[in-house]
Amino acid sequence: MISDLQIQELCKAAIDIRKNCYAPYSHFLVGAALLTSGGKIYTGVNIENAAYGPSNCAERTAVFKAVSEGEKDFVAIAIAGGPAGGDVQYCPPCGVCRQVLAEFCGGDFEIFLPSSSGEPKRYTLADLLPESFGPDNL
Ligand code: THU
Repeated sequence: MISDLQIQELCKAAIDIRKNCYAPYSHFLVGAALLTSGGKIYTGVNIENAAYGPSNCAERTAVFKAVSEGEKDFVAIAIAGGPAGGDVQYCPPCGVCRQVLAEFCGGDFEIFLPSSSGEPKRYTLADLLPESFGPDNL
């Protein structure tokens, strides 16, 4: 069970890493912080591209960093998004990122969405991607 302190730490990591976003087209900065079962945090940012299509969301950057380092057992993610120079606002993960999370995480995986204006929202992956298609369907 993730503690309140861990939730705060994860949200702070997602907010702080926004300084490294590369979002010259949308000017919308998203940071993600992914917690492994071993207690390690992998961060990620959105990385856009002049051709638009190759752009990558913060959540997938974090997942791909972690998996490429040999980690596949995840407990929770915090996602912090908002316009450059503005407040952090609730930023739910896009559908593609939900699907990528479902590849590695069960329905009880937790998703925290911090905001400058209140407490983080808290969901499970099952809340945000019910009846998902995953490795067990093949
Ligand atoms: N973005 C993310 O990084 N994660 C999400 O879940 C939603 C959107 C990024 C993609 C793009 O660089 C910018 O936010 C605007 O859509």
